[in-house]
Amino acid sequence: MEALVYHGPGRRAWEKRPRPEIRDATDAVVRITTSTICGTDLHILKGDVPTVTDGRILGHEGVGVVDDVGAGVTGVRKGDKVLISCITSCGKCDFCRKGMYSHCRSGGWILGNAIDGTQAEYVRIPHADTSLHRLAPDADEEAMVMLSDILPTGFECGVLNGQVKPGDAVAIVGAGPIGLATLLTAQFYSPAEIVMIDLDENRLRVARSFGATRSVNSGDGEAVRKVMDLTGGAGVDVAIEAVGIPATFDICQSILAPGGRLANVGVHGKPVELHLETLWARNITLTTRLVDTVTTPMLLKVVQSGRLQPGKLVTHRFGLADVMKAYDTFGNAAREHALKVILQGASPRDGR
Ligand SMILES: NC(=O)c1ccc[n+]([C@@H]2O[C@H](COP(=O)([O-])OP(=O)(O)OC[C@H]3O[C@@H](n4cnc5c(N)ncnc54)[C@H](O)[C@@H]3O)[C@@H](O)[C@H]2O)c1
Ligand SMILES: [Zn+2]
Ligand SMILES: [Zn+2]
Repeated sequence: MEALVYHGPGRRAWEKRPRPEIRDATDAVVRITTSTICGTDLHILKGDVPTVTDGRILGHEGVGVVDDVGAGVTGVRKGDKVLISCITSCGKCDFCRKGMYSHCRSGGWILGNAIDGTQAEYVRIPHADTSLHRLAPDADEEAMVMLSDILPTGFECGVLNGQVKPGDAVAIVGAGPIGLATLLTAQFYSPAEIVMIDLDENRLRVARSFGATRSVNSGDGEAVRKVMDLTGGAGVDVAIEAVGIPATFDICQSILAPGGRLANVGVHGKPVELHLETLWARNITLTTRLVDTVTTPMLLKVVQSGRLQPGKLVTHRFGLADVMKAYDTFGNAAREHALKVILQGASPRDGR
């Protein structure tokens, strides 16, 4: 088969690799029909994620068809269409029993990280019963693939941890796919205001069309003052960090109203300065989380009902074999006006 392989910082190639096989009784092998690229894949290519080593197939998002299962798999069968969760979970260890699948003792975020991932014709999925979700044969794959990572991430790490409530003023810093997924799922709770903050005017425009009530371009360094003005000097009830750099964490900690919640979603590579000298008396809550994907079954129902339409995040489509071009487009997102870039697998009759 062919796959997108990481060869150290800045180096990737589309190349021939052996087709994955069942190793453990709980494994499945899935033929990829739809995949996509995540902002985290770009972090990996910059060399920010040291657990990813030379030779790793990237990708942790995907929809596909089960091709083979181990003897111990009971929940899916050959031929089933499935959603692949970006988090692999055994369902049995102490962390899984607490619903913290992200810290599964033999799983967590391993796909396209510690083991080969989904930007390939086939992928091996450990703990298949608890890491795959069965889909209807006619499921909308482009909408479903947003459930592998971005929707549960925005919802769990941003909306649930930030405890978004009816009437709240919410600010989301970062209007990338994760920030936009947070924006879409925050609206389950009818906040009064959702202020979107980014440097990219195109993404801010998309955010307004997805339900943001206000947008702030932080390019002039005035984001804090603008948000304070918009909220009559009070600040926001919830500030969600969806970028992963000190500057955007700073915006979040500077715009919290008393009693506010700061929910960090971004992957940080550097320390930030926490201003406890002002925050200690402001009754705030600060949360962090690696997505657990515990809410995926719920989100799946909302997408199936049509009440949530994540397919509108798709801006570009490529054949899986053109994944190198897809990375060039996604890597220049501002210039290309790219949000989610869909990779379409070849159908089996196109040859293997
Ligand atoms: N916690 C988790 O489990 C989890 C899961 C998936 C992704 N993430 C992380 O979430 C973050 C967002 O992911 P994404 O795919 O949307 O990334 P992205 O790179 O597509 O989006 C980031 C956005 O931030 C904006 N931005 C950059 N610098 C800014 C600044 N100084 N002020 C305002 N905006 C700025 C960019 O214009 C861009 O629109 C990343 O750090 C990603 O690694 C976390
Ligand atoms: Zn991701
Ligand atoms: Zn586990």
